[in-house]
Amino acid sequence: MKKQCVLVAGGAGYIGSHTTVELIAAGYDVVIADNLSNSEMRAVEGVRKITGIEVPFVQVDCCDREAFRKVFEQYDFDSAIHFAASKAVGESVEKPMLYYRNNLTSLMNLIDLMHEFGRHNIVFSSSCTVYGEPDKQPVTEQTPRKPATSPYGNTKQMSEDILRDSMKAFAGMKGIALRYFNPIGAHPSALIGELPRGVPQNLVPYVTQTAAGIRECLSVFGDDYPTPDGSCIRDYIDVTDLAKAHVAAIGRMVDGKSKSEYEVFNIGTGRGVSVLELVKGFERVNGVKLNYRIAPRRAGDIIAIWADPTLANTELGWKAERPLDETLASAWKWQQSLK
Ligand code: NAD
Ligand code: WQD
Repeated sequence: MKKQCVLVAGGAGYIGSHTTVELIAAGYDVVIADNLSNSEMRAVEGVRKITGIEVPFVQVDCCDREAFRKVFEQYDFDSAIHFAASKAVGESVEKPMLYYRNNLTSLMNLIDLMHEFGRHNIVFSSSCTVYGEPDKQPVTEQTPRKPATSPYGNTKQMSEDILRDSMKAFAGMKGIALRYFNPIGAHPSALIGELPRGVPQNLVPYVTQTAAGIRECLSVFGDDYPTPDGSCIRDYIDVTDLAKAHVAAIGRMVDGKSKSEYEVFNIGTGRGVSVLELVKGFERVNGVKLNYRIAPRRAGDIIAIWADPTLANTELGWKAERPLDETLASAWKWQQSLK
């Protein structure tokens, strides 16, 4: 039987590269399209090494519709995953137009081309950022979205709406938005992982760079929040577990199991972990001492958020499995491989 093919737009990036590995492990063919604006070919090489397959890669800007069209002319995929977006919250406040243009145009081009070429299934990378500061924990898919606090967050809300409305209009097409919580860690092989550019904005890359001596000291942003130890709480999800959620979402659509043309799933562990718990866990698991200090709160931070992943568990048949300790060990192994 001919293998199903999946287009992974943004597949040279952190989550896209891990997802490509899991798609191939599940028996799909993959073609990666990426403009390398926030990634490097080494991720594609890493994917090829892990899978033993010369995964096709096309360097293309998904915002350039005519160039993107050629990928559709050349490859016969029926499903696509859209990772191709800019993701730095702070930068989005300074350069809103870059975020609106890149994140929305690349998605709209993908949807339009899928429609034009008669291709059917789309998975979209959404984010728990759409919930803002929730009134109740854990958050379910029914938890209301709050007004976005950054242009980046706004692009995720707008993208969800664009996908919902277009799937409704384009008969036969299906879309799934996955709302990721906080993806961390790296592939067990340490051949792929997160490659932050410049000073990391996210917690775990800052932790691993501090442990490696690249950063002098980790700032823990606030210890006076109304949480058990005073630091913020998040739902940290292993990147391979997250990657597998995409395989499940594609499978659901390919197998005709979707309950409507547009669906949304929370992809988290269901477990809230504080910044201080994460820092101490990292030290314990890896046997390293982290230089950290308590710093003032970071503007715009959510106090606490974690997922209710029941819907993904029951409908997608997917569950986060990797223990946090293993994920923290993989993050350190990856950091050390970068020397
Ligand atoms: P990443 O930056 O590592 O990956 C994104 C990839 O898309 C990069 O390889 C980049 O070069 C590519 N890209 C960007 N714009 C493009 C364009 N116009 N054309 C072609 N390629 C383009 O980021 P990631 O962490 O892997 O995130 C993937 C997706 O998941 C993004 O949409 C992001 O917003 C979303 N997301 C990420 C997180 C997170 O914490 N990492 C959380 C929630 C949602
Ligand atoms: C986690 C916790 C910080 C760095 C962001 C985006 C969100 C999503 C994931 C894409 C917070 C604390 C951090 C540091 C710290 N991305 N921290 N010292 O803020 O939950 O979410 O990434 O969709 O949209 O907003 O993740 O990793 O930045 O922070 O104390 O040096 O770690 O205050 O409590 P966040 P993060």
